[in-house]
Amino acid sequence: MSILVLGGAGYIGSCAALGLRRRGYDVIVADNMEKGHKSAVPQGVPLFVGDVRDFDFMSALFEENKIDAVMDFAAYSLVGESVAQPAQYYDNNVYGMLCLLRAMMLSGVDKIVFSSSAAVYGEPEDALVAEDAPKLPKSPYGETKLVIENMLKYFGAAYGIRSACLRYFNAAGAMGGLGEDHKPETHLIPIVLRAAMTESAVTLNGDDYDTPDGTCVRDYVHVEDLAEGHILALERLKEAPGAHVWNVGSGRGASILEILEAARRVTGARIKTKTGPRRPGDPSRLVADVSKIRGELGFAAKRADIEDIIESAWRFLRDKPNGYCG
Ligand code: UFG
Repeated sequence: MSILVLGGAGYIGSCAALGLRRRGYDVIVADNMEKGHKSAVPQGVPLFVGDVRDFDFMSALFEENKIDAVMDFAAYSLVGESVAQPAQYYDNNVYGMLCLLRAMMLSGVDKIVFSSSAAVYGEPEDALVAEDAPKLPKSPYGETKLVIENMLKYFGAAYGIRSACLRYFNAAGAMGGLGEDHKPETHLIPIVLRAAMTESAVTLNGDDYDTPDGTCVRDYVHVEDLAEGHILALERLKEAPGAHVWNVGSGRGASILEILEAARRVTGARIKTKTGPRRPGDPSRLVADVSKIRGELGFAAKRADIEDIIESAWRFLRDKPNGYCG
């Protein structure tokens, strides 16, 4: 089976491409390289540079390559940035998906695994958030993911598109020499590890949330587990038509202060902190109820220990202190 990985030069996309290759799938990557890194594309995987919103590029891609299914990672994904720049998020994420679906339908490709997000839930009421919890996104980013999930549901009913929306919680860690390298970096774990390396201070984005220690609680899921979740979802689409939705997380929460403590144990560094204001759009707590994906796909996070996740990210940073370009 041959898979088009859109956004496969980025963090999660490149790890999914590697996971697919390890499982014997044929893979091609397309990426507009706005945020991607050429050297993150696994060896032997062809890279096509172009944008999902470019119809000529996309139709040529589908015409000239054998593609049985798509994994789509090509989206903007920063909660805070989406609050400041909603137009960019609707354009790249929602319009981009419309372009992709049109190109898929023209070429008869009917299977897509989509990177959705726990951001669709907004501020959940329950300690563990299940797929049927209310969807009340707190940011334009989360809204775009919800719009796309609904598009996929309607395109499934009308045009037979089979879809799996994976609502990621917080992807973290590194696999096979691939890891997080964003510029600027906004994600907690790489920021904390860089602070350990450079002795700079980490800003806590608010310490007055209604959580046990006042800092936000998240469910960190190892990117290698996330990649496996994609493959399980893809395999299910082969036999199951329709639009499916699964949470992908570890099912465990860690606060920002707990991440800092774990990072201190892993790195041996002191890691200073200072308290800043809350970041717009941040929910206080997002932890996955993983019973649906466990029951339906047999998925369980194998690398759920937060120190193991941080350790793998630390190895990546020490190996590539200047990122892929360095
Ligand atoms: N944080 C800090 N200081 C920093 C960086 C982050 O306090 O320097 C805080 C954030 O405010 C947040 C927590 O650490 O409370 C985690 O922040 P990240 O930026 O690492 O991750 P987010 O939870 O904001 O977002 C991630 C993905 C989104 C996804 C979301 C779902 O980037 O795509 O998880 O939980 F929607």
